[in-house]
Amino acid sequence: MDRKIGLFDAMRTMRAMRRLKPDPVPDELIREIIEAGTWAPSGGDTQHWRFIVVKDPEIKKQLQIRYKRAYEDLKERFHAAPPPPGKSELQKQRMLAARDHLTEHFHEAPVLIVCCLVADSGSGVAAGASIYPAVQNMLLAARALGLGATLTTRHLLYEPEVDEILRLPDEAHTFAIIPVGYPLGNFGPLSRAPVEQVTFLDRWGEKYL
Ligand SMILES: Cc1cc2nc3c(=O)[nH]c(=O)nc-3n(C[C@H](O)[C@H](O)[C@H](O)COP(=O)(O)O)c2cc1C
Repeated sequence: MDRKIGLFDAMRTMRAMRRLKPDPVPDELIREIIEAGTWAPSGGDTQHWRFIVVKDPEIKKQLQIRYKRAYEDLKERFHAAPPPPGKSELQKQRMLAARDHLTEHFHEAPVLIVCCLVADSGSGVAAGASIYPAVQNMLLAARALGLGATLTTRHLLYEPEVDEILRLPDEAHTFAIIPVGYPLGNFGPLSRAPVEQVTFLDRWGEKYL
């Protein structure tokens, strides 16, 4: 456990950890992760987030079936796309292999945290703005606790079915599912496009640094 890791080191090494051990994760740690989520800002401090900790093997399997179906719908596009900014073809291939692994083993993660928001939290771009800061806090908390986690949204392609599986009331929506478990691989430095490439001064297109 790396509870004392500095914030910048945690951010710099917080990879999407898609290969997880099936070993159980204590509820105290899941609670800590969710508490970190609740420290996030939300529009108007409404705190309309709700979290479902899914441990039931049958419910996890039902979610995996939808996640996998959604992945198969998108897989060709992922493979055809160029490597993400800052990543090599080899890194892209590794990421695709890790995505395949997560897709096959989604339900074997000891815990799936489903991040939900109840309605009237804005629409369009603003819709997720009151839940994704909480999700990022939770990913960082998992990192600090030595737990692997990944922000996933693929289930949204089959949202009505997922809502039914989880018995969501009409006013609630899911925004992310975070599989959490002890990682099989290691945390490590991320590869991203440099700041200079993504930052402008005063107006779009003007060089900053
Ligand atoms: C909005 C959003 C949706 C994502 N959905 C998924 C997903 O469904 N499945 C998945 O494996 N990763 C998903 N990711 C994780 C990204 O693929 C990941 O952040 C990216 O590959 C960078 O990984 P790295 O931080 O390990 O370099 C999602 C990330 C974001 C921000």
